[in-house]
Amino acid sequence: MEIGIKKRASIYSGTSNLPLAQEIADHLGMALGEVTISRFASGEIYVRFHESARGTDAFVIQTHSAPVNDMIMEQLLMIDALKRASAKRINAVIPFFGYARQDRKSLAREPISARLIADLLQVAGADRVLSVDLHSGQIQGFFDIPVDHLTALPILAEYVEEHHRDNIVVVAPDAGRVRVAEKYSLHLDAPLALMRKRRMQEGKGAAAAEVLDVVGDVAGKRCLVVDDMIDTGGTLISAVKHLIRQGASEVLAAATHAVFSGDAIQRIADSALSEVIVTNSMPLPSPLPDKIKVVSIAPIVASTIAAVFQDESVSEIFQGENQEAIPPEIRKRGPKRKKKDHEAPAPSI
Ligand code: R5P
Repeated sequence: MEIGIKKRASIYSGTSNLPLAQEIADHLGMALGEVTISRFASGEIYVRFHESARGTDAFVIQTHSAPVNDMIMEQLLMIDALKRASAKRINAVIPFFGYARQDRKSLAREPISARLIADLLQVAGADRVLSVDLHSGQIQGFFDIPVDHLTALPILAEYVEEHHRDNIVVVAPDAGRVRVAEKYSLHLDAPLALMRKRRMQEGKGAAAAEVLDVVGDVAGKRCLVVDDMIDTGGTLISAVKHLIRQGASEVLAAATHAVFSGDAIQRIADSALSEVIVTNSMPLPSPLPDKIKVVSIAPIVASTIAAVFQDESVSEIFQGENQEAIPPEIRKRGPKRKKKDHEAPAPSI
């Protein structure tokens, strides 16, 4: 007896960022799978899929936005349900990975929270993780399953290139962003400046950031501050003040994850920043102030899902820019990219 085996993909979304999930599904020419997600009166989460998942390559999209613990729990329960429904492979698609800033014990008696989230995803039944611009590359090592690390750097940098090309200097707001800033500087063929940051209160939670120093030539320049996320906006706004004091002619910012906690949006609107370019990895309110521009990560996530399903290279989609180190071919190639791969339509799967 011969059995023909056909691969089948299904794509599901939690409740954290449905517009993004829908956009990803549209790029893939697929419909989002039907799933009920509701709450018991006590706050416990209930999940049920409405179609057979047996044998599918299932992609569960959930960004870890506020309320972050609920959003993580929704994704864990979806993964668990798919595992028990005999999905063949379960891919956790996490545009913004929650708790990523807690990736090491920096003080005695702290947890390594990002590691715990990684463990939870694996225990629930994830076989693979796809995430965008992790706070630090080492988070990939917290998993014993493959992690595909996507980056929004090319789409953010290309926006800057198109709208703000001249007289630019790329600024890393703290030591953690130096490598990312270096990639922007290569991409934009622009010089680099570095800032030194100190938090004013103990812990990472609501502590306000204060910038202490800037190394590099920023006077009379258009400064592009690059970061992985804007949470309260504290880091960015203190960087802007300092850069203006140092004679910068203009300050703009590019960051992948617009966490925008509390009054961050208002603080940005009231600041001297001329423009802030972010992605839609997080759900965003509408309308946003004019100076906040949003570029979509849906095409790159869709292309990556297609590549994973078809067992094709993911790093090719990003031409190597999704790697932790800067590969020699990018150093050699310099700012000139071959083509805007992420703009090509994702192959349907
Ligand atoms: C810190 O290491 C991160 O890369 C960001 O700079 C930081 O988390 C942004 O947070 P906030 O906007 O609250 O300063």
